[in-house]
Amino acid sequence: MNHRIALLLVLAACGSKSTPAAAPAAPTAPLAWKDMNHEQRHAYMKDVVMPRSKEIFVAFDATRYANMDCKTCHGAGADDGSFEMPTADIKPLPNTEELFMAWVAKDPDAGKVAGFMSEKVEPLMGELLGETVFDPKTNTGEFSCMNCHQLVDADGKVVKMEPHEGAEAHDHDAH
Ligand code: HEC
Ligand code: HEC
Repeated sequence: MNHRIALLLVLAACGSKSTPAAAPAAPTAPLAWKDMNHEQRHAYMKDVVMPRSKEIFVAFDATRYANMDCKTCHGAGADDGSFEMPTADIKPLPNTEELFMAWVAKDPDAGKVAGFMSEKVEPLMGELLGETVFDPKTNTGEFSCMNCHQLVDADGKVVKMEPHEGAEAHDHDAH
């Protein structure tokens, strides 16, 4: 059901999504993200992920993201040092297409951001982490909206994520 939700979100966010190119591994990373320990991840985020992602956020909205930092993505996790993702501090996404469409119909700005997320943020982050981006056509991929956002049902209750089926063994807690 995880994949189904991702599919719905992608379709809702961006009607005519072209097939994403297979994400090339980060060229200069000496160590794959999945093999890094917490300190190495911290350094890679700071040296690579932060500047590269800030570039696209600023290109999307220079005013809103002029002061973008770790907290923009990590919220309180940037303060307590856990950097745990997904975080409750960015807006949780509705877990059905119906709820999602109702939301973006009322809030066009959220719809615009969702398009930016699926066209730019998700592919870049997949590339930088060396993870395949979820592809609704083949129902495969490791990285999706839910790596950053929590999902909530109609009552605003957080829906527990299920591990991606079909993805290669990749334990987010093993570090
Ligand atoms: C564009 C969003 C974004 C920004 C900005 C960002 N991060 Fe991250 N960070 C992520 C995501 C997504 C993950 C989880 C990746 C995964 O799925 O394994 C993560 C994971 C981490 C982890 C690993 C956490 C763990 O469980 O081991 C650390 C440490 C970290 N970030 C530090 C930072 C620092 C320090 C900064 C600022 C210099 C930063 N991040 C900025 C998105 C971001
Ligand atoms: C790398 C982390 C990351 C990924 C992946 C990601 N997002 Fe986001 N998203 C964010 C951050 C950070 C914000 C908050 C930006 C801000 O504060 O302005 C955000 C904000 C949003 C918003 C605006 C919410 C509001 O308050 O109006 C929407 C909608 C959204 N994301 C949808 C999506 C969708 C749909 C996907 C998957 C296609 C996705 N996001 C993938 C990090 C991410």
